[in-house]
Amino acid sequence: MSAQDRRALTRRAFLGVAAGTGLAGAGWALGAALLPAEAAGETLTSAVRLPRPYTVPLPIPPVARPVEPGRYELTQRAARVEIIPGTTTEVWGFDGVFPGPTLELRRGSRTTVRVRNELPVPTSTHLHGGVTPDDSDGYPTDLVVAEGRTFQPSGGMHGHGHHDPAVWTFHSGAKDYVYPVEQRAATLWYHDHRMDFTAPQVWRGLAGFAIVRDDEEDALPLPKGERDIPLFICDRAFAEDGSFRYPSLDPTLLERPGVEDAYMEGVQGDVILVNGAPWPVLEVGTARYRLRLLNGSNARRYRLELTGGARFVQIGSDQGLLAEPVEHTALTIVPGERFDVVVDFSGFSPGTEITMVNTLGESPQTRAVMRFRVTSRVRDDSRVPPRLAELPPADRAAAVTVRTFDFRRTRHDSGDMWTINGEPYTPGRPIAEVRLGTTEVWRFTSDFHHPVHVHLAHFQVLGRGTRGPEATDAGLKDTVDVRPYEIVDVLVRFDGYRGRYMFHCHNLEHEDMAMMADFRIV
Ligand code: C2O
Ligand code: CU
Ligand code: CU
Repeated sequence: MSAQDRRALTRRAFLGVAAGTGLAGAGWALGAALLPAEAAGETLTSAVRLPRPYTVPLPIPPVARPVEPGRYELTQRAARVEIIPGTTTEVWGFDGVFPGPTLELRRGSRTTVRVRNELPVPTSTHLHGGVTPDDSDGYPTDLVVAEGRTFQPSGGMHGHGHHDPAVWTFHSGAKDYVYPVEQRAATLWYHDHRMDFTAPQVWRGLAGFAIVRDDEEDALPLPKGERDIPLFICDRAFAEDGSFRYPSLDPTLLERPGVEDAYMEGVQGDVILVNGAPWPVLEVGTARYRLRLLNGSNARRYRLELTGGARFVQIGSDQGLLAEPVEHTALTIVPGERFDVVVDFSGFSPGTEITMVNTLGESPQTRAVMRFRVTSRVRDDSRVPPRLAELPPADRAAAVTVRTFDFRRTRHDSGDMWTINGEPYTPGRPIAEVRLGTTEVWRFTSDFHHPVHVHLAHFQVLGRGTRGPEATDAGLKDTVDVRPYEIVDVLVRFDGYRGRYMFHCHNLEHEDMAMMADFRIV
């Protein structure tokens, strides 16, 4: 089936459901032209009655409370939560919530997080964007298994080396993840990273924010407190009984990894959640707000825009403050990426509604994200200074070597797989060895949309093909949008720790279907 046929099918399915469930009356403007989707996956359709957009208030994830200074305990467990009003959904959440509790980290304050697993499946927890020693980095085969349960790794989806018993380690009940937090203020997040099953486990809810703060950033007059808001944007689909839909080959997530063939490119849902609520609304005053945008979706890319002439003033990227603010009318955000922006509502009078839309959406539902309703006139002392931080120069000449990594779909005996340099992931087999303290150019090439993420090391985008970086490439990053047939050069600095790390595509279905590799820092 061609991509075009598939899109037509998806559209028919959407219209069919809309007519059949009263969705048409739910406030969706149907009939708007479908964009030729820049789709990075296949969209599942919900069968539950969905709420009118912009009626559910935006929740803010709870802030994790330390059990003692520098120590947290999070329990991964199943819980029923009301996501779609009038129905409940079983989530697998840290402390039973989705998104999980926000970890408030302070630069220089070493923090230990004990993750207890009470789920029927093993887990591995990764702090995305963290400069973390490798034994706490959430390696895919370094697993926490609920107390009293046993887990026998199966051959995995490709039978490539997963059998090697040496790569598997098991912790019974819980594991302590140690985060030195020797890194600048930034919006990070944590999520499950289990071998072959990351995508379905994150889809069920195993993800949350981790915000690093520091004195340098605190000294700036940026919006703070209640006007500093994390926004976890993701898509999901719901079955008639309110449960999450996901096309797993084995819904127990114990034996056979992978998704139905039609979803090989990635799984998208038709409901957009922000902080776990469908198309929510936030009441704001006439002031500046700092919004920490995270794309926590498995596969969906968004191009976010604001209606009413509001702008995004970007102040930070994946790894914290930019050198200077950059104004955007549109932001493309790919899975795993963060943009830290300030939106100024002071020019709008109470009663004004500003909608954040996704102009890459393939349907009215997926073009809607959330709404801001200006309700009060308030005082605001915040501002965005013209200089934000000192960043190292992106000097290509500093690189000791150039390595090329090609992200591509490859035919193997066991079927199609997503690969790096033609090879499916084999845990424990590094494909690059780099020296601690050096800088390299990593060149990413691709056949499709691949959001490429590197653990531990941060990078700056040097250019895309013969062009320089785009406005949205600014700053220090850990995840970069690599588009079909594009060549993206990044300057990576390997600071932090020696050891075994990973880089991979952050389309989580691609990741599970082997688009990952180890590298070693020596
Ligand atoms: Cu957010 Cu290795 O991932
Ligand atoms: Cu990561
Ligand atoms: Cu990919």
